Amino acid sequence: MPIVTSTEMFKKAYEGGYAIGAFNVNNMEIIQGITEAAKEVRAPLILQVSAGARKYANHTYLMKLIEAAIIETDLPVCIHLDHGDSFELCKACIDGGFTSVMIDGSFLPFEENVRLTKQVVDYAHSKGVVVEGELGRLAGIEDDVNVSDQEAAFTDPAQAEEFVERTGVDSLAIAIGTSHGAFKFKGEPRLRFDILEEIQRRMPGFPIVLHGASSVIPEYVEMINQYGGDLAGAKGVPEEMLRKAASMAVCKINIDSDLRLAFTATIRKYLAENPGHFDPRQYLGPARTAIKEMVKHKIINVLGCDGKA
Ligand code: G3H
Ligand code: 13P
Ligand code: ZN
Repeated sequence: MPIVTSTEMFKKAYEGGYAIGAFNVNNMEIIQGITEAAKEVRAPLILQVSAGARKYANHTYLMKLIEAAIIETDLPVCIHLDHGDSFELCKACIDGGFTSVMIDGSFLPFEENVRLTKQVVDYAHSKGVVVEGELGRLAGIEDDVNVSDQEAAFTDPAQAEEFVERTGVDSLAIAIGTSHGAFKFKGEPRLRFDILEEIQRRMPGFPIVLHGASSVIPEYVEMINQYGGDLAGAKGVPEEMLRKAASMAVCKINIDSDLRLAFTATIRKYLAENPGHFDPRQYLGPARTAIKEMVKHKIINVLGCDGKA
């Protein structure tokens, strides 16, 4: 099975009322855990690489690990740049074999976001690569950028329509109340489904992307707290809200924090219970299994894309 773009995946997901999971990858165990889960339940997959992951693990290492996972699983996999912030970074990923890139110009004024996104779209499309844009600002932390709640802004549906038309992007990330990281809501979780509905009404069939979509699974938060961590007040997006979004225009759901929590909680527990162990395989193995089980749960119970590969 070759590396694919997300075009077919999104078309089927939109029509079928489900979403594709886009999971952030940083090392071999994370890639193996995610892809083994997807293989078992025959789910299409987007593996996404942030600028930080690329800096940490190196572009070539990540490409080769993903290529190995594709050989092992025989699954359709899309390799996506997460939160690209410049034309140069997007170009490097396109030239380096990614099939999809995100250009995140959401930090720019509207006209500049249009200009930068269009520049990336023109280059990407000439190479058969698809592009995700972003309009509106999520609160939270990604790499060095910390967007405060005050700076966050919901996506304006009319602007979204104009943005898609003028840039030619293949999908659009929108802000409807989710945020990055493990602390998403101070009070009750609330998403602006009315905005999503209006975007869907204006652009029927067009795939929407939801960032900041980890549920911050309580089991792992408790485990981290129990074994010396402090994640008091951590809160994510309830699973039923994600299922509702997936049944609407949302075709891609981004998950990173839940992977980090599952991985780290398992390692903390293992090392606390086995203080004499120091072989990395002994604690990375269970962490990889935790990722696999968590991703399987997401695919079957949240995304609904099991059996769709
Ligand atoms: O949205 C951001 C992702 O969680 C990636 O995080 O930039 O720390 O790799 P990172
Ligand atoms: P989470 O922090 O909710 O996992 O969001 C990840 C994300 O949006 C990656 O782009
Ligand atoms: Zn994101």
